[in-house]
This record gives sequence, structure tokens and C-alpha cells, in this order.
Amino acid sequence: MLWIPIDRTKDAPLIRQVYRQIRTAILQGELLAGEKLPSTRELANELHVSRNVVIEAYDQLLAEGYLVTRQGAGTYVAEGTYLEQVPSEQTTSSFEQKVELTPKKDMIDFRSGIPDLTFFPRRIWAKLSYEVCHDISHSLLSYGNPEGVPEFRAILARYLVKTRGVHCQPEQLVITSGATQALTLVAKLLLSEGEQVVIEDPITHDIQSIFKSAGASLYPVPVDEQGMRTELLPSELHPSFVFVTPSHQFPVGGALPIQRRIQLIQFAREKSCYLVEDDYDSEFRYEGAPVSSLQGLDPDRVIYIGSFSKILSPALRLGYLILPLELIERCRQLKWFSDLHTPSLNQIILGRFIEAGHLERHILKMKKRYKKRRDSLLRLLQHYFTDRVKIYGYSTGLHLIAEFQNIDFTEQVIEQIEKAGVRVYPVEQHTIVKGLHSNRLIIGYGHLREEELEEGVRRLGNSEVFK
Ligand SMILES: Cc1ncc(COP(=O)(O)O)c(C=O)c1O
Repeated sequence: MLWIPIDRTKDAPLIRQVYRQIRTAILQGELLAGEKLPSTRELANELHVSRNVVIEAYDQLLAEGYLVTRQGAGTYVAEGTYLEQVPSEQTTSSFEQKVELTPKKDMIDFRSGIPDLTFFPRRIWAKLSYEVCHDISHSLLSYGNPEGVPEFRAILARYLVKTRGVHCQPEQLVITSGATQALTLVAKLLLSEGEQVVIEDPITHDIQSIFKSAGASLYPVPVDEQGMRTELLPSELHPSFVFVTPSHQFPVGGALPIQRRIQLIQFAREKSCYLVEDDYDSEFRYEGAPVSSLQGLDPDRVIYIGSFSKILSPALRLGYLILPLELIERCRQLKWFSDLHTPSLNQIILGRFIEAGHLERHILKMKKRYKKRRDSLLRLLQHYFTDRVKIYGYSTGLHLIAEFQNIDFTEQVIEQIEKAGVRVYPVEQHTIVKGLHSNRLIIGYGHLREEELEEGVRRLGNSEVFK
């Protein structure tokens, strides 16, 4: 008799459980072609389930071709249903590691780049979503243009000119599924096998992967507390582009001063290459006004990338590219190949959200909240670590950098810290040239309440590593 363990505590319906287990047994060759299955009555008795459960499971397997019936003789495993099992070679990529669906209970996680989603403006968003669903034309529910909804692009262009000092006509905008897709499109647009990209070092590991997977080799230029050290730009190289995060270097946190911006632009002009500017969270600048974009200084040379992940929610998957006009047509094509276009409804809702002034108000409110958290974190780090810690990159964004004396944050050290119930992230994870940032941690605070910050820093201070 077939052995089918039934788990009545599971959410999966009994029919599904019986069906799946027989199917797996057939695919894996435990039930061989030509083998006779027990009658539905026999199997139902054996499993203590109703006969209907077995009949429905058999029917499904018959419909999918796993089983055949022979007139008056019963049910048999069909021919050609065995599938050799190949051990999976998949390894977890950095992208999969990022999505931790069930964070460890009670762990204080200082991950960077997560906004406080408890303040997502749900009520206004829900109201606007209702209005949009209610009153948009049928044509907006059909396929759209690869570059995005025209009405939204016009609103966004106006908003960016006003708040980010960019030069931008709506025709230069391509709406993307987050900055990540914008980066992928830039890689496809500008890179082919063996081409070189000059890039800040350290820089987020995912961005390195995107460019490398497009065939590029990376030429790292070190960063200091003011961003890329432009005096070290390679005079002998002819790169496809230079990648920078000038408003808020990720992860070290500097804002590129005007002298270095000019040096970058001069380099790009000499080399006839583009500059790619990722402006991922520049809105949260706590001292003074946000730094203006690099794109505003030379719109023909700079490709500008922005995202709504940090100012609203990563789940929206809304980002954008501002491109010099000569790149627009090719970018539209690539976007079309990739996913036709970014979902229109969210674009229209966000457009209305911006037009009504909600985005600016939301950013202002969040900035105050994040500043309070940042100030608490600075105080706490100083209190627990006194002169053993130096702090960098705290004037913008949702994280800061803490540098500790005489510590090398290896994997083992990070694991030891985790045992104290706190998760921290070494800068070294994002370096290209290894060994220059090994005593530094990225400490994300945007998503943590003040009590959690306090508890996290206390746990860090009490961990074996710091005793
Ligand atoms: C520097 C930087 N740029 C871009 C992104 C990607 O953002 P998005 O969610 O818009 O794809 C991230 C994500 O954390 C980032 O750290």
C-alpha cells in the first residue's frame, strides 16, 4: 500500500497533500510506470480520509497525465513520468540574502537603507488610489509607453527641477522599477564585454554586481569623508562611465564638494564618457539644504538616477532615469524588452501625491523623525564607546559609519556580535580593494525606534567583542 503521511495541522487541503505526494513519488521514480495504484476506496480507508479526497487527487493526476486508467482494471502510473533529479547548484546571491522574510525574533537589526515604514502615508495613499481607480480613463488601464505615464513624467520633471536642481524636460525621463532597474538599464545601454567603469570604492555590493554582470571591469577610486577622491581618477583609462553617489556616498556618507564635482566633469569631458549619478537618499540632509545634483552642472554628460524607495517605500518599486536626449530612444527600447513599462497606476497615484504637496510634507516630517533618531544614536555611541569610536557620514541619510579602534570586523566577529542579539554590517562587505575599512561598521537607524537604538547599542557594547 502507498504510504502517504497526512498532516492535518497544515493549512494545505487534504486533496492537495495526497495529490502532491503521489506526484512526487512518480516524478522521483518511487512509483514506476505501469505500477498499479490502490483503488480510491482502499486508499481512503488507509489514510482515514473521505473517498472524495482520493477521487479528486487521482482525477487531477489523470488530467495532468501522471496516471492512466485501464477499462475495468484500475489506475496505473503512466509511461514517461520519471524525471531524473539533478542536485541544485544554486547558491544564494546577495540579493536573496537581502530579503529576510522572518527576521530573527528580538534581534536588533542595524541594516541600512530601510525607511520607517510605520509612517508610510497609508491614509492619503489609499484615498488617492481610490480616486485614481475611480476616475482614470480606460486607456490608462491598457499597455502604456515604456518611458512611463506622460502626466507623471511632467509632474516629476517639475518636482526634480525644483527640489534637486536638475535640468530636465519630461522627454528626458524614463520611469523605472526602482533605482536597481535604472542601473541595469544604464549597464545595458553603455557597457559591453571588457569595458571599464570607474567607480567609488567602497560602493554597494549590488551595484558592483550589476555592472560586472554586464561584462564590465571595475576600476576602483577610493573615497574619503568627502566622497570620491577625484585626484586619483585614472588618466590612462578610457572608461565607459564614472559611477558616483555625490550627494551621499554609499556607504561612507560624504557629500562631494564642488571642486571635486568640477574635476569629475572635466575628466568626463576629456574622456568623452558619461557620469552616472545615483541620488538614492539625498533628501534626508540634516544640516543645511540638500546638496544640488551633479546633473545640474552638466546635463549632457550626466545620467541621473533617483528612487522613491527611501523617501516612501521600497515596495512601490518606483525609480527614474534622467538621460541626455541622445540616449532616450535606445533606453526606451531596452525598457520595453525588460518589462514593457513600470506599472502605470502607481505612477499616477504618486503623481497626484506630489502635485498635492504630500511628498514634500512627508519628507519634511520624516526628516525631523530621522534627525531625532540620528541624534540619539550619536549620543548612545558616544556614551557606550567614548573615545573608542569615531563617527562619520552622519549628516545625510538613514545610516552612519562607526569606526572602532583595534577591531577587525571579520565574519566571525560579526557572528559573535549576533550572539548578543544585534546585527551589524561591516563596510568591508562593500569594498573592492580589501582591508582599508575593516574596522568600520554601517549602522542603519532610520527604521529603529529610540528604545530599539538604545537596546541595540547597549547589546553591541556588552558583546564579547567589546569586552
Ligand atoms: C546606493 C543605492 N542606490 C540604489 C539603491 C536601490 O534602490 P531601489 O530600491 O530604488 O532599487 C540602493 C538600495 O539600497 C542603494 O543603496
